Amino acid sequence: MTFNPSDFTATPDDGVAWITGASSGIGAALARKLAGEGWRVAVTARSADDLHALAADCAGASGEIRVYPGDTTDAARMAQTVAEIEADAGPIALAVLNAGVYLPVDGTNPDLKAFHKSFDVNLGGTVNSLVPLVEAMRGHGRGQVALVASVAGYGGLPTSAAYGATKAGLINLAEALKFDLDRIGVRIQIVSPGFVDTPATKNNPFPMPHLMQVEEAAARLHAGLKRRGVFEITFPRRFTWQLKALQLLPYRWYFALLGRTTGWSKKGPPSAARADVADAAE
Ligand SMILES: NC(=O)c1ccc[n+]([C@@H]2O[C@H](COP(=O)([O-])OP(=O)(O)OC[C@H]3O[C@@H](n4cnc5c(N)ncnc54)[C@H](OP(=O)(O)O)[C@@H]3O)[C@@H](O)[C@H]2O)c1
Repeated sequence: MTFNPSDFTATPDDGVAWITGASSGIGAALARKLAGEGWRVAVTARSADDLHALAADCAGASGEIRVYPGDTTDAARMAQTVAEIEADAGPIALAVLNAGVYLPVDGTNPDLKAFHKSFDVNLGGTVNSLVPLVEAMRGHGRGQVALVASVAGYGGLPTSAAYGATKAGLINLAEALKFDLDRIGVRIQIVSPGFVDTPATKNNPFPMPHLMQVEEAAARLHAGLKRRGVFEITFPRRFTWQLKALQLLPYRWYFALLGRTTGWSKKGPPSAARADVADAAE
């Protein structure tokens, strides 16, 4: 029977799991889950102390957590990290490239730094991790990689001009790479969560429909990694499929519907502009 990369679900017998952005939130919860089912999990983020605390916390698990701190925006460090993991812990069989930042943008007063930081971490950091990883997996003849995007990548949403652009980029990147990675036996998947209760969302000033607890999100991600033939892992499905269906609407309806449901269409001009309007009206 021929090997179908889309059906490949890596197991601890195949090698190590690597998670970036594992010092908190979804990445940390997934690392705990994988260690609990016997994986040797290599974890990366900038906060080495948090990674070591996670490893200590999982010391009684059937698997183990090994710490490889690093900033994903540093391409040389990510190449070195992949090499270190493979030398110390074994071949990387499964990778979840999850490191990311959420920086809201007020489009009436856009902040260039928020755009650059989002592009550097969410897109640049993922690519810096992915390229040496693919090189390693090509050598092994198989592997499983998931990129953590977001439903904000499906279409433009208020405040998410920078974040959404990076997540749309990741979705497109994974779709494009699937054609080639299939040819070398490497399975690529995209993860599109809705709202998850993590440090990244705790200061959101707007209501978050269908907000999911982080352990539940990690469990859904974990289940999606094990499902054969699935390219996209998305949760909670009722919410994320509604957002996906909105993409079928003509733009006129899309903007009207989202403007109304998010309350954005009720927002007037920004305060500075309102003062101008008031001045002009006098
Ligand atoms: N929470 C949600 O509602 C939600 C929804 C959709 C998608 N997502 C995505 O899920 C992923 C995880 O987010 P989360 O909600 O779990 O947030 P989080 O708790 O803030 O986790 C983000 C992780 O990324 C790491 N990170 C950030 N910048 C990094 C860098 N330059 N180098 C290495 N690691 C870096 C952080 O660690 P350090 O700060 O220690 O480096 C942290 O471990 C992100 O890609 C996010 O966009 C989240």
